[in-house]
Amino acid sequence: MSTTVLSSTRVVAPAARLRGELRVPGDKSITHRALLLGAMARGTSRFGRPGIGADTRATAAVIEAVGVPFELSGAELVVHGPGLEAWREPDDVLNCMNSGTTMRLCAGVLAARPFHCVLTGDASLRRRPMDRVVQPLRTLGADIRARANGRLAPLALAPAALHGAAMDVEVASAQVKSAILLAAVQASGPTEVRQPAASRDHTERMLRGQGAHLVTSATAVRIEPCPRLGPLEMDIPGDISSAAFWITAAALHPDAEVVVRGVGLNPTRTGLLDVLRAMGARVDVQVERQTPEPMGTVTVRSSNLRATTIGGEVIPRLIDEVPLVALLATKAAGTTRVTDAQELAVKESDRLTVTAAILGALGGEVEATPDGFQIAGGAGTGAGEVDAAGDHRMAMLAAVAGVSGAGQVTIRGAQAVDVSYPTFWDDLAALAG
Ligand code: S3P
Repeated sequence: MSTTVLSSTRVVAPAARLRGELRVPGDKSITHRALLLGAMARGTSRFGRPGIGADTRATAAVIEAVGVPFELSGAELVVHGPGLEAWREPDDVLNCMNSGTTMRLCAGVLAARPFHCVLTGDASLRRRPMDRVVQPLRTLGADIRARANGRLAPLALAPAALHGAAMDVEVASAQVKSAILLAAVQASGPTEVRQPAASRDHTERMLRGQGAHLVTSATAVRIEPCPRLGPLEMDIPGDISSAAFWITAAALHPDAEVVVRGVGLNPTRTGLLDVLRAMGARVDVQVERQTPEPMGTVTVRSSNLRATTIGGEVIPRLIDEVPLVALLATKAAGTTRVTDAQELAVKESDRLTVTAAILGALGGEVEATPDGFQIAGGAGTGAGEVDAAGDHRMAMLAAVAGVSGAGQVTIRGAQAVDVSYPTFWDDLAALAG
């Protein structure tokens, strides 16, 4: 199969002012889980305001391929869960496209199914480390083969009976933890996963809502087998990782006030808000609901920023937003240091190198280090031409630099935003208009 991707170039000019209220699309992490957990359940699950983009469509295509009926629109996702026993062997390879969450979570669920299947993806996904899920799933008894000595996709899964296990995993990754949990509910005994730091806990919250028995601490989860999961009903909050672009733009722009409503405020995801406060940004957060997922309103105004130092436990709580911290730091007084963020090198692109290249091309003094950045704060970013490197978050980083900075930014490969935020350009126009 060959796919042609048409590359598009966008030019983003500085806005005179940034004003407005908006809702961002539903959380991508939660939408992936809604599709999979709804498909594993027996009964009809309903999710309000799912996030639809190329990534979540890839997960939808997987559940379709195993025979699960569902209806997906911007207003609602309805999954008619047949129960795991009804899943059928897919008759072709499963293409996870650009989506690491699809591949890793599906590897977990499918490792315990009594059929063969192959998970593959685009060139970026086929370069990303998969041993981090292959190894723990093998520890549970899974029969998985992968290219490059178990490191790279495609992954080939064969039938196997899983048993529980206690294990330590090396990275604080919610994708890895979730893959293990989705396999563990189908195992014959309990499983315990310990991580070096806390990571997003959407899977744990949802599994609990479906009747699974979990005991959790900040860095460990113990789960009992639960092959019969019940259906779920929930409204999916707006994706804080998408809202983060407007939150950053407002803090940087000299004449801004942006209000994001209905946004997810799960504490395992709100590291950027903590870092912004430490940088002196004017951020106001109203939590309006606590369960099943915290949600509320975030208001951000033009801010005078100061440098900060981040590393350690906050990193998994803002892993997708670290490049935005680097952008904020270009306009903060002093030198900002980011450490412990080596995971950025194995995202959709090498975000350490690409962030430094993009911000450097726009006049920022950003040095990539092996596990983060060192940024000399100054006047912020200016004009230039950059390449998104096929990475949705890099395209949006460049657009935020353009709309809130001092010069026009030309972004090659701007269509990458469709992976997580297809309406990004409309929202940009509305705020800058
Ligand atoms: C995600 C977890 C994070 C994050 C990704 C989505 C998830 O990845 O970067 O965008 O939905 O579980 P890691 O688990 O690799 O840290």
